[in-house]
Amino acid sequence: MGWYETHILPRLVDWVLRGDDVDRIRAQIAARVRGVVLEIGFGSGRNVPFLPAGVSRVVAIEPSPTARRLAGGRCAASRAPIAFMEASALALPLLDASIDSVLSTWTLCTLPDLQGTLRELRRVLVPGGRFCFAEHGLSPQPGVARWQRRLEPLHKRLAGGCHLTRDIAAELERAGFSIVRLENRYLGWPRTHMWLFLGEASRGAT
Ligand SMILES: C[S@@+](CC[C@H](N)C(=O)[O-])C[C@H]1O[C@@H](n2cnc3c(N)ncnc32)[C@H](O)[C@@H]1O
Repeated sequence: MGWYETHILPRLVDWVLRGDDVDRIRAQIAARVRGVVLEIGFGSGRNVPFLPAGVSRVVAIEPSPTARRLAGGRCAASRAPIAFMEASALALPLLDASIDSVLSTWTLCTLPDLQGTLRELRRVLVPGGRFCFAEHGLSPQPGVARWQRRLEPLHKRLAGGCHLTRDIAAELERAGFSIVRLENRYLGWPRTHMWLFLGEASRGAT
């Protein structure tokens, strides 16, 4: 990882993914988690203030030391204990069916092996466990999608591997999740970066 990815990008992400509109989404999605929560791509901990009282503890996965440092104050103020785990979301040192809820906000776009990671998340979720997500991805508008495809190679280089063209709902279903709640909408500009997938997917009962 270069100097930009190590020192600048985590601060840039912390700065971009803030504000009232983003916080309303964080509050909406984080409100649905409960019990033992696994948050992947924990970043600077901006979801922590929105975790509901029903959360007993949080397992946090965040590879960037700078982001983990930025998260320090929010973790210290958290009601539920938060423990960072040295791992990638692709290979979790967690037992099968040991997690009640997975939380992911603006992270699935970045994971290099998305299907492999989603299968790993299904493995650690309890039967009936929920995956709560706020993500961005492929727009249904052909004109916007065309620009997403054009911009994606450059955007991936500038934004830590972030894809613009992932169809998050389709990817979740392909990995075996069932979508139980989904809202799609734009959040401001540029539209190429702001087509949102907000919702909840079930691991299924088996
Ligand atoms: C765009 S940021 C989102 C941060 C945070 N979720 C938020 O909403 O502010 C994506 C995060 O995913 C993390 N990440 C990248 N690869 C990862 C992996 N394999 N496992 C877990 N997290 C990863 C990055 O370090 C980064 O902090």
